[in-house]
Amino acid sequence: MDRLTLTRPDDWHLHLRDGAALAAVLPHTAQRFARAIVMPNLKPPVTTTAQALAYRARILAALPRGAVFTPLMTLYLTDNTTPQEIAEAKASGHIAAVKYYPAGATTNSESGVTDLKKTYAALGAMEQHDMPLLMHGEVTDGGVDVFDREKIFIEHHLSDLVKRFPKLRIVFEHITTQEAVEFVREAPGAVAATITAHHLLLNRNAIFEDGVRPHHYCLPVLKREKHRAAVLGAAVSGNPKFFLGTDSAPHGRRAKETACGCAGVYTAHAGIELYAEAFEQAGALDKLEGFASFFGADFYRLPRNTDSITLVKQAWDVPREYAFGDDALIPLRAGRPVGWALD
Ligand code: NCD
Ligand code: ZN
Repeated sequence: MDRLTLTRPDDWHLHLRDGAALAAVLPHTAQRFARAIVMPNLKPPVTTTAQALAYRARILAALPRGAVFTPLMTLYLTDNTTPQEIAEAKASGHIAAVKYYPAGATTNSESGVTDLKKTYAALGAMEQHDMPLLMHGEVTDGGVDVFDREKIFIEHHLSDLVKRFPKLRIVFEHITTQEAVEFVREAPGAVAATITAHHLLLNRNAIFEDGVRPHHYCLPVLKREKHRAAVLGAAVSGNPKFFLGTDSAPHGRRAKETACGCAGVYTAHAGIELYAEAFEQAGALDKLEGFASFFGADFYRLPRNTDSITLVKQAWDVPREYAFGDDALIPLRAGRPVGWALD
């Protein structure tokens, strides 16, 4: 197969940032995806409906002329998020979900949740208003090995949460382990998961290939090969609980190539092409459309897109860098080929 026409996909987990960074990255996503769930981890975080609507307006204003793209906004859950805020978010019609970051887990998560119990009133309101909860599923306890943080999160928090709020729709974001795959597969229907392209294509060796590779550092961190294989197996399984979320997370070169580099891999420049590579490697290109274009929309109870994109099997070299405000952005595969291209 060297041409693949798909219903236009959506990205169910994306970091767009703000200002010059937003303007730099948004065209890549808008070229490929019809909609994206936009993460709220700005500085300061997007914790109120008013802030989310203002951010939405800035995204729409930054769109290239003629682009058709719908940002689906999220609120950043804190210890202090009130049930009224959830009701207001739902009533706005533009807020699709609420994002949980454990305090200190990742980029701009300082205002995240310190104890899930503190959010039970908000989670109850979300269950009542049918507002999905998107979870960064990692514990932050310094005593837990960084490669085990997702597995321990399931054992310590997620197993209990799905029982306590059985109607709450939960997306276990950017899953990276066999344990997460098994948990989601066996969990009740209200639980789904997003999967990134980089976790399908890379295992943790990529962080240390001939030296330390800051552009392969993200959270949750890349895992060993058996986990990559399990996550790929889930993505190509045709199970609608698993769908596309790039977690494209741009940081300027200076913030990545330094003594204490930020977590995040930038993939929006090849946001669907990289998935085509992974699905082709698994011999499952026929499963890409469900994963990329149908299952997420169905989970969010939004209509499937009606237009299409065509991918061609034609290698192209990724630029070594993109402009990024007063810095540069180093994309995944910088200076190297991607096997599929947008027609
Ligand atoms: C994300 C970011 O940079 O905002 N980084 C990442 O490594 N994925 C935050 C996140 O989703 O954890
Ligand atoms: Zn993310």
